[in-house]
Amino acid sequence: MVSFTITVGIALLASISSVAAAPFSSNGISLLDARQEELPPTCSDYCSVSAGCVCIIRPTNCVATYIVDSGETCGTVVDRFDNFTATALFKWNPEIGKECFGLHAYVPVCIGVTGYQYPGAVEGGDTWTPEQTPVPVQPGIVTNCTKFEYTDSQGSPTLATILSSNNITKEQWNSWNVPTQDPTQDWASWAGYFSCVEA
Ligand SMILES: *[C@@H]1O[C@H](CO)[C@@H](O)[C@H](O)[C@H]1NC(C)=O
Ligand SMILES: *[C@@H]1O[C@H](CO)[C@@H](O)[C@H](O)[C@H]1NC(C)=O
Ligand SMILES: *[C@@H]1O[C@H](CO)[C@@H](O)[C@H](O)[C@H]1NC(C)=O
Repeated sequence: MVSFTITVGIALLASISSVAAAPFSSNGISLLDARQEELPPTCSDYCSVSAGCVCIIRPTNCVATYIVDSGETCGTVVDRFDNFTATALFKWNPEIGKECFGLHAYVPVCIGVTGYQYPGAVEGGDTWTPEQTPVPVQPGIVTNCTKFEYTDSQGSPTLATILSSNNITKEQWNSWNVPTQDPTQDWASWAGYFSCVEA
């Protein structure tokens, strides 16, 4: 069941727009700006009976919001709509973090900005550079990771496949993804997350 909260979204946006006016070009939104979120510099409190108060940042050009259900993850929110990536969700709602641990139940997230174009769903085995901002990433990944590979929600590809297709050892993968743990142990890649496959 998908519930939209237009009133909450509008009230939220109204309070944010007073902080930072959206930069428009003389003939409306420029092509360059159109796909990008316009974020206010500071967070504002969102308060409700269910959520308590959470300080959140939402784009001033947000066009739709969705109230997160309890038990949801970035993956369930992304799958529910199938019209934006988890990377976009993070860019529009920065407090959720690249690991997506900051997603709060009962708090509205922005699910679209003006002119955004959906590149399609991320699939298991897709590899991204750091510049592409892979989200969600496994927590603890080394900061100098240069290549990330996505494991889908079904756990595909397996870690064994990831190791062989990237020509890396288990110890290398462990040292980049669980650097504080014993690299000779069998650590698992997380379903629905990017892991580091080159550093
Ligand atoms: C995704 O779909 C929802 C529901 O139809 C809509 O409100 C939202 O604007 C869409 N987001 C994008 C990025 O198209
Ligand atoms: C990346 O960082 C780790 C420690 O976080 C270090 O051991 C490794 O040598 C670094 N790799 C490169 C290519 O700089
Ligand atoms: C795989 O990695 C090893 C060790 O880094 C290297 O010697 C070998 O040439 C690589 N093989 C391929 C096919 O890239």
